[in-house]
Amino acid sequence: MLRRLFNKPTVSAAGDQPAVEARGLRKAYHGGAVRVEALRSIDLRIERGELVAIIGPSGSGKTTLLNCLAGLEQDFEGDVVLAGHSLRALSDDRRARLRAAKTGFIFQAFNLLPTLSALENVEMPLLIAGQGGRAARRRAWSMLEAVGLTDRAHHRPAALSGGQQQRVAIARALVNSPAIVWADEPTGNLDSESAAEIMALIRQLNRENQQTFVIVTHSPDVASSARRLVQMRDGHIIRDEPLHALDTRPLEQNVVRG
Ligand SMILES: Nc1ncnc2c1ncn2[C@@H]1O[C@H](COP(=O)(O)OP(=O)(O)O)[C@@H](O)[C@H]1O
Ligand SMILES: [Mg+2]
Repeated sequence: MLRRLFNKPTVSAAGDQPAVEARGLRKAYHGGAVRVEALRSIDLRIERGELVAIIGPSGSGKTTLLNCLAGLEQDFEGDVVLAGHSLRALSDDRRARLRAAKTGFIFQAFNLLPTLSALENVEMPLLIAGQGGRAARRRAWSMLEAVGLTDRAHHRPAALSGGQQQRVAIARALVNSPAIVWADEPTGNLDSESAAEIMALIRQLNRENQQTFVIVTHSPDVASSARRLVQMRDGHIIRDEPLHALDTRPLEQNVVRG
């Protein structure tokens, strides 16, 4: 069913071009006299179609890394190449357009607009991109169908459970068929059952549409349903390896709850 609903990202002539790549990425924050080295020389290449979890204790640089990869943080050293574009070389405006065209975001706090219905929230990125009318409405509806929420289409976020709100947010993140989806603690506000449902949905979308997902989490359960694990500590990547769904034992031992 999902296969019908999504446009697969087009494969360009450079078929081996990664979804995103960081090279020698460093990022420091300056707060008065204090300088915090949030990222210390990160090299990371994420291929199209991967489902990657970034884990590590609180303060280890996960959100900073995600925001740099996603083009939300400027002012870093090194470079990030997102969908073939060097973020250093782009103006703010072109970076914003690249984000809108190629990426989707899922947040811990869902970030839905409270006065709009579920359907209208999902439709919003299409309206912003200049698509309107019946086609946008149909597309938003089919996305709600994909996340199993058409029976809540006309409810506002406050009338939905946390898990349902996050499913709306996922539908909204995916409505533009982004090649890469970023999620920062997407299950952080959910009970474990809803978190497992959200991760099952993400795995399904990743598998059936070859969309790339990069998920920051400090939940071992969430991380164990990814296909690759990147572990951070003190601004460094200290571990980067494929995960096999059934082999969660080393993960449980290594993940530090942040
Ligand atoms: N806007 C900011 N200003 C100053 N320091 C920041 C800012 N954002 C993050 N930091 C610092 O950078 C480090 C990494 O933070 P962050 O990327 O949020 O880690 P994580 O997501 O793993 O908890 C921490 O020491 C944090 O305090
Ligand atoms: Mg964080």
